[in-house]
Amino acid sequence: MSETAVFSETIEQGLSAWMHRAFAEVFPETDLAALPLNVVATTDATFGDYQCNAAMSAAKLLKMKPRDVAQAVVDRAQLPDSVAKLDIAGPGFLNIHLSSDWLARRLEGVQADARLGVPAAGQGKTVILDYSSPNVAKPMHIGHIRSTVIGNALDRMHRCLGWRVLADNHLGDWGTQFGLLILGFRTFADPAAYEASPIEELERVYVASYNRSKEDEAWKTATRAELVKLQQGDPDNRKLWESFIEHSLREFDRIYTRLGVKFDLVRGESYYNAQLAGVVALLQAQGLAEESEGALIVKLEAEKLTPCLVRKSDGGYNYATTDIATVLGRTAEFKPDAIVYVTDERQQLHFKQFFTVCRKLGLTTKLQHVWFGLMRLPEGTFSTREGNVIKLDRLLDEAETRALAIVQQTSPAMPPEQQREVARAVGLGAVKYADLSQNPQSLVTFTWDKALALDGNSAPYLQYACARIASVQDKYRERFPGGEPTAHPIRLADPIERTLGLKLLRFADVLERAAEQFRPNQLADYLFDLAQSYSSFYQNLPFLKAEEGVRESRVRLCALTARTLRCGLDLLGIETPARI
Ligand code: ARG
Repeated sequence: MSETAVFSETIEQGLSAWMHRAFAEVFPETDLAALPLNVVATTDATFGDYQCNAAMSAAKLLKMKPRDVAQAVVDRAQLPDSVAKLDIAGPGFLNIHLSSDWLARRLEGVQADARLGVPAAGQGKTVILDYSSPNVAKPMHIGHIRSTVIGNALDRMHRCLGWRVLADNHLGDWGTQFGLLILGFRTFADPAAYEASPIEELERVYVASYNRSKEDEAWKTATRAELVKLQQGDPDNRKLWESFIEHSLREFDRIYTRLGVKFDLVRGESYYNAQLAGVVALLQAQGLAEESEGALIVKLEAEKLTPCLVRKSDGGYNYATTDIATVLGRTAEFKPDAIVYVTDERQQLHFKQFFTVCRKLGLTTKLQHVWFGLMRLPEGTFSTREGNVIKLDRLLDEAETRALAIVQQTSPAMPPEQQREVARAVGLGAVKYADLSQNPQSLVTFTWDKALALDGNSAPYLQYACARIASVQDKYRERFPGGEPTAHPIRLADPIERTLGLKLLRFADVLERAAEQFRPNQLADYLFDLAQSYSSFYQNLPFLKAEEGVRESRVRLCALTARTLRCGLDLLGIETPARI
């Protein structure tokens, strides 16, 4: 959605602005600017469509009872066109009932808008999204997979909101593992296995070398020597290192293509090598770094954090040093408004530490760590601590196979080629949605039954809903050839269609909030809720049998529901086959 925005604000933003004006009008003597006068959607329709709780906090400032504050607003505020009625509930909640006519007109505006009513809130702003970022040749663990799926959803959501997004795959392509790998590779590698399945072979070599380093001091010293040689530019080691990266990237890319993930930048840790000494010098010059037992650290006592290590006693640099260099490099080159990192929960301390060091260096760019817990996968797909690309491939294969069995059952008449294509979209969608529909910070267990359920909160359920809605539109065209739904206005006469219409109009607010809070699951919840409202609409109201005008209005609501579901799923990286 790159078209220029038709809507400059969402419904909540419009109503919140009105609330600000209303309070200012009613209480001109008191400065209420700092109060949260924001309006939010109600969860219970008996309290209207939207509500505002500001009377409670305003009451203190105004030295009045909350209910009296609310009453004064109800009595004296001017209602905008959108609002049919304003009333009070409980101790002073302001309940807003929107005009059904206004809702219907807004729906028509949204339908005519290529951006589905989503304002370009991110216009002119840049965000760098650092996600996936696996380590070359070390086992790729399940965290990288979640980071890829969640990061990509955040990527798509921000682009849709008009942000300039730079997706950067910050590969772990530098560090001590390469000493272990180079010596391990020369000693243990099987060239044929390396050709056939490079990552698997590199992982095997890495583990063998790592285990040996634990019991054999001489081996450990020798691996360090290889690392130093690599760092000093030794051509043989350099060539091996490049080959590790090239082979690994090729396999990562295969997975990314399969998952529909694209990066704008693939700058590994090694990209920042030349900057590390300068970063340390800068920290020293600013009096931030100090020696401690031969290492160089930045103390973070005031922030109640353990010190951030920036140079080891052997002169090598730390993970944090690279990350600080990366922030400095990115801010200088791209002037981003925010840099967002998506990793598993185990790195929280690391991010807190180097974010704090960046602040001490005077950097003001917003730095955000989006972390998630590790998902439990079915027995046998991954060990609890690690998985790898191969296993991820198998997981996706299994998803497609299971989906194919379902598609063959539900659509036996479909040509086999098309069945496979649908199964691919459904299987991959199921795996992604199982991940994205959960609060990232809660511990979840993946089960095939839940992921592939046709009747629960799952991707297949939503994909089927889209296809079914399309078939309603087809039926209309068959029964009423030449019928032009848009020639008739949208009307929201029945409470069920009003509920659906209202929900459709919430899309922009949900999307903005989900992006702002980095929570794709809020978008997933919304889509499921929308699909359920649709199904109640479809089951309870006559469609093709309704009188002319009502029928066309319903077909239009139907079309808008399908578009909203498709757009929302696409933002989660999930495809919607036209027919299932
Ligand atoms: N390569 C790291 C890992 O596998 C993740 C990197 C996350 N991004 C960053 N800038 N630190 O754990």
